Formats: sequence, C-alpha cells, structure tokens
Amino acid sequence: ISLANQNYQSFLHCLYNNIQSSEGNSDIFYTPSNSNYTSFYLSSIRNLRFVNSATTKPLLIIAPTNVSHVQASVVCARENGFSIRVRSGGHDYEGLSYREVDNSRQFVIVDLANLREIDIDVTRGTAWVQAGATLGELYYKISIKTNLYGFPAGICPTVGIGGHISGGGFGTMLRKYGLASDNVLDALLVDSNGDLLHKDSMGEDLFWAMRGGGGTSYGIVVSWKVKLVPVPPIVTVFTINRVMKEGVIDLMSKWQSIAPRLHEDLLIRIVAQQIYEGGERQVQAGFNALFLGECVQLVELMETDFPELGMRRQDCKEMSWIESALYFAFYTSDISKEALLDRGTEPYRYFKAKSDFVKEPIPKSALEKVLSLILDDNAGVIIMDPYGAKMDNISETATPFPHRKGNLYNIQYFTEWTQHDTTTYEERMRWIRNIYDEMEPYVSTNPRAAYINYRDLDLGINELVDGISSYEKGRIWGEKYFKGNFEKLALVKARVDPSDFFWNEQSVPPLFAGD
Ligand code: FDA
Repeated sequence: ISLANQNYQSFLHCLYNNIQSSEGNSDIFYTPSNSNYTSFYLSSIRNLRFVNSATTKPLLIIAPTNVSHVQASVVCARENGFSIRVRSGGHDYEGLSYREVDNSRQFVIVDLANLREIDIDVTRGTAWVQAGATLGELYYKISIKTNLYGFPAGICPTVGIGGHISGGGFGTMLRKYGLASDNVLDALLVDSNGDLLHKDSMGEDLFWAMRGGGGTSYGIVVSWKVKLVPVPPIVTVFTINRVMKEGVIDLMSKWQSIAPRLHEDLLIRIVAQQIYEGGERQVQAGFNALFLGECVQLVELMETDFPELGMRRQDCKEMSWIESALYFAFYTSDISKEALLDRGTEPYRYFKAKSDFVKEPIPKSALEKVLSLILDDNAGVIIMDPYGAKMDNISETATPFPHRKGNLYNIQYFTEWTQHDTTTYEERMRWIRNIYDEMEPYVSTNPRAAYINYRDLDLGINELVDGISSYEKGRIWGEKYFKGNFEKLALVKARVDPSDFFWNEQSVPPLFAGD
C-alpha cells in the first residue's frame, strides 16, 4: 500500500475518530464511491468552465454539521498532508473553492453548506450568520422578523455568506452603508491549528485581514456577526432602458459624473448589453435604481440631478426593502419571497468576468468605442456600479478593501454561454480580454485595480518557493486587489499561517519579517 494511500487511510481514521453524527456520518462525508458525491459536489458550483473530465475532483468532501467538525477537518488534513479547499456558496468566479488549477495536488473540500443558521437580534439590530447561509437566506430571515432592517450585501441571492463577506461584498445599498464587510462586528474563525477564534482572541490585525482580504487565506470562517442597517418601510426602484438613438452616450457620460455624487439614499447602476429590437441588433443601457425612500422624493431628486434621463412618476415602483431584493435578483418583485431561499442545484452556464475601477470620467468617444464592442457576436454585458457617499468616508486602510475615495465607479465585464465547444469558449475569452485591453487607457492605473470577489486569474497566480507562496510574485496580482494593504495582509498571513496551509492560487502569501 502506497504512502499516499497510507496517509489517506490515516486521514480518514482521524476524521472518523473526531467526527460523529447521529445520522451515522452519511450527511457529513462524501467520497467518490458515495452515490451522492457528484450531486453534492455540483450542488453549489456556478461556473461550468470547471466541470469537466480534466478537472481533478476532491478525494473527499466534508460537510460539517458542527463547528468542532471544521476544527477536526483542519487538524486531520494538516497532520496527514492534505490540502483543503473551503466552500460556502461555491460562487468563486474561478472555481477556487472546489478545484486546483494545475490539478497537481490531492485535496479535500470542506463545504459549509450544512452550517447555515441565522440568528437575528432585532432589539440590537445584529445577526449571527453562519458561513454556509446564502445572501437570500439572510435577507429572507431578516424580513420574517422585521421590516425595519436590511443588510447591505450583493444582489444574487445564491451567493454564500462565507466567501462574499471575506472579499468585501456590495450591492444596492453600497452608497449608504458601504460593503458587507464594513458591517461586520465579530466573527468565528478556525485557524490553521484548528483553534476557534473570535474577534478578541484573534488579534486586531487578523480581524482586519479577514474582513475583505479574500476567502481562504487565514482560516475557515464559521460565522459572521453583522450589523443590520435601517431601511424605510417603503423604498422605490426603477429601470429605464435607453438605446443609442435615445442618447445613450450622453446619458452615460452624465451618469459618470453625477452617479457617485447623488444623495446617499440613491444608487443608479448601469447594465449595458446587446438587444434585438425590430429585427435589429443594438446596444441598450439599463439604468437600474434603488432609492431608500418614496417616489415623490425620488422624482424631485432626479429632476434636479439627472433630468436628462427623463425619469417620471410612472417609472417608480414602490415596495418594501425585501421586495427590492427580489426585484434586483429576479427582475420582478411579483414573486413570493421564498424564491430567495432557492439555493439552486446544478450549474447551467459557463462564464468569465473581469473588473476595473474608474477614477476619471471616460470621454464620450471612448464610451462609443466600448459600446460598439457590445455589438460583437460574442459579446457579454458591462455592469457599472457607482461608488461615492459612504464609500468616500471610509479610509483606504480601514479594511483590506482599498477602493474608496476617488473611485467613481466599478465596472464588471461579464460574458456567459451555455454550449460546450472550444470555438465558443475561445471567442468569448477573446471578447472579454479584448474589451479589457481597450479600456486600459480609461481606468485606474498603478496598479490597474480589480475587485477580489470578481476573481480573475488572468491577473496572476501564486508561485511557490520551497513550498510557500512567494510574496514578491504575489504582489503582481495582490496589489491589484488590495493596493498598499497587500503588504499588511501578507504580514498577518505570516503570523497566523506561516506554513501557508490555507492556500489557493490567489491566497495571500506570507511575508516574514526580514524578507
Ligand atoms: P465560494 O464558496 O466559491 O468561495 C469564494 C472564495 O472564498 C473561495 O476562495 C473560497 O475558498 C473562500 N471561502 C468560501 N467560504 C469560506 C469560509 N467559510 N472561510 C474562508 N474562506 C472561504 N459579489 C458582489 O460583491 N456583489 C454581487 O452582487 C455579486 N453577485 C454575484 C452573482 C453571481 C451569479 C456570482 C457567481 C457571483 C457574484 N458576486 C457578487 C461575487 C461573489 O461575492 C464572490 O464570488 C464570493 O466570493 C462568493 O462567495 P461564495 O461563498 O458563494 O463562494
């Protein structure tokens, strides 16, 4: 029996000795010979790009039902030389929560889907949320208890709390309340020794690093304590679509300078995409807004700040905050809010995304050029989320997320496809890389910044020196996500995980004093 096999047996032995469940462990361990292995493996994967025969599957998936199981998984894996991928919602854009890019190591997945309790304290306006819960579950649970509070996090309800808050996390209340990670009060983390730490026992620097430094690097987050934020009983949304002949370029140009300066209660994002109308292919920009107030006030604000959009009373849809979460997730609020609880089961599409931050308004001629690229056969969409307001009032170093004052908006380039063939894949990748190249003169420089939760391996990956990720090489991609904060993140990593146990292709490398 080979050494690898011996280690695996000893690993399993360690796990079985330390993890007992009343169900006989069938709900905790999934080995490839288990009939539920494939469906559980696929259950939260969102990107089909990483589901093929060339991808090495995990030796084992562990789905803890108790915090002590998470601790035992870390201790047993480390003792026996197995690496761990941590998965909460499985939405990682590059699949790093469930695959190894070069397929060189044997790994196991610790999947937190069973740890998804949400405990809302309405009196204090706080909640403890376990990492395996989704954003939709959190929003739903809040709405069951109260209509006075919401939580400022992402738009897609199936995104996992564990990865999302680890990388920042933003949605429609970004301008009023900042990122999800800006609203964290405490956390429970299992570190590389298998110890369970909370805010006071982990040290200020680790508590800083885990709120935006990206998932994986420091340990396994078991739960977050978050601050809920007040929302009014009635909010207003609108979607106004405009095509080229309706002056899209002028509108987008104006939007760039006013959207980050609008009242903090108002967020207007743009989704630019290709549509067919009257048998003709054209570009459409959708101006999609959430206002934390009633229609009358919104109409007044729009008349003063953005009259060119021609927003009228009839464009308003007044609703509760939870209905607005449905509206942004499903383009309608006329469905039951239980839809927020649907975690999805199987991946159905392939996609690739990239991101940018814009600091100076893009000239009209450049906007025209960019929009013309959306008319390509293989084009995707461009999503622009305005910053400003609260984001300007949090310093670049307050958390690892450095994209604060001075950023007008974030751009996400996103292309998706459903047919599996090499030509489609190549054409889609060519489109997204080309538009990214074309945008270079107009976006942030030194570094050209990116958002860690829109993970992009084109920016670079870790290189190992003597089995440990190189800090110098890591700076290539790390400073794009974290700018000057990358060094501090790496120093914290050296303190809490010097052997680089919690590793992936873009985990923070350790920086040792004297390096
Ligand atoms: P997943 O489980 O794949 O984890 C992501 C990363 O975090 C991995 O590296 C993983 O190992 C690590 N990790 C996961 N759980 C951990 C834990 N408990 N402890 C430590 N590390 C952990 N973002 C945004 O800001 N606003 C938005 O509106 C959206 N919308 C959106 C829609 C869709 C369809 C997708 C696919 C993605 C988004 N995102 C987003 C991006 C999203 O925030 C990002 O992918 C998150 O990292 C996903 O977290 P999950 O837990 O779902 O992913």
